[in-house]
Amino acid sequence: MQLNTHDYRRAAKRQLPRFVFEYIDGGAEDEGCLRRNADDLAQVQLLPTVLRDTSAIDTSVQLFGQRWQAPFAVAPIGLCGLVRPGGDQMMAQAAAAAGVPHILSTASNTRLEDLHPGGASALQWLQLYVMSERSIAEQIVRRARQAGFGALVLTVDVPVSGTRERDARNHFKLPFKPTPAIAWDMLRHPAWLWRLAHGGAPSFVNMSEDNTPGSAQVQAALLAREMDRRLDWDSLRWLRRLWDGPLLLKGLLHPADATRALAHGVDAVIVSNHGGRQLDLAPSGIAALPRIVDAVGGRMPVLVDGGFRRGGDVAKALALGAQAVLLGRPPVYGLACDGQQGVAAVLALLRQELERTMVLLGAARVGDIDRHHVMDPH
Ligand SMILES: Cc1cc2nc3c(=O)[nH]c(=O)nc-3n(C[C@H](O)[C@H](O)[C@H](O)COP(=O)(O)O)c2cc1C
Repeated sequence: MQLNTHDYRRAAKRQLPRFVFEYIDGGAEDEGCLRRNADDLAQVQLLPTVLRDTSAIDTSVQLFGQRWQAPFAVAPIGLCGLVRPGGDQMMAQAAAAAGVPHILSTASNTRLEDLHPGGASALQWLQLYVMSERSIAEQIVRRARQAGFGALVLTVDVPVSGTRERDARNHFKLPFKPTPAIAWDMLRHPAWLWRLAHGGAPSFVNMSEDNTPGSAQVQAALLAREMDRRLDWDSLRWLRRLWDGPLLLKGLLHPADATRALAHGVDAVIVSNHGGRQLDLAPSGIAALPRIVDAVGGRMPVLVDGGFRRGGDVAKALALGAQAVLLGRPPVYGLACDGQQGVAAVLALLRQELERTMVLLGAARVGDIDRHHVMDPH
């Protein structure tokens, strides 16, 4: 029985080969940052206020002129097709049904044009990695504009990939070559293997410069290209020439960077340590959030991610000044268990938990949750 996202995680672990589960679940190096995301959230206590009219609870928020039914979005996840063929569509459709944004990863396994064949909605966003071959990013952004994507999320915390030791131990690397241990691992998960055999092995279909999906080898080689480490604040001008819609930066932790983002005309920032997968020494999203909220001073929305596993965790971020939260692994656990329905169930669960938390806090609307609800640890 899956009562919460922790149950979904355990069920996903049973469903998936070990190398796939650990690709999703793991973090960088000693996984200190990964643990801090959970531990720091657990430290935050919220003070309820009583005798408030909570007969009608409204979890919706308004961001970039759009109404979201809940203050969370589905974070970009690369290589979703390894969890389930068609995983990107399943995540996108579940998010659309829940009325919240879905952010398609540059490293997705679905062509961005195929995600919503009739054209994307304002709540379908695209995450961008800029590789040293800038023309790849340019063609992706151009195509996203044509396909009607609602916002562009530039990920800025991957100048180089963090060291994911679980992947190395499992011999999981790209291009994918199953070792005898991986082959055995796959055989022990026949339902997963059957789906992959029928749905096809994932490839990075958005990366090829000529718009045609190449061989897995070619795709992997493209992804393995180094990220553009010359990308700097001035490069935002280059991006702005290509994209005039909402532009978010994902992966900021320093308050000074948030101020810089403001000065460079960015529309919102996402406080994130990439789910503990990049700099292992980095603070948790929730710990970095208040200083960034203060630096921004209400001049643009601040979003946050890393370790949000309960609707109550989302309330903690709102209380500390975030406008919304990104959910990374929990929807993927739902995907592993039950495809699109599993993602939908996880999103519904988190929304129900948030609603109950709001009733108990005495906050009928998202805007009623603020720092007065945060218990000062001292
Ligand atoms: C398996 C996996 C793949 C990810 N792929 C991407 C990606 O392609 N682009 C990106 O900006 N972030 C990526 N992230 C980071 C997430 O978008 C998000 O920041 C992080 O997962 C949030 O933490 P949480 O998983 O604890 O909720 C990935 C995270 C995971 C777990």
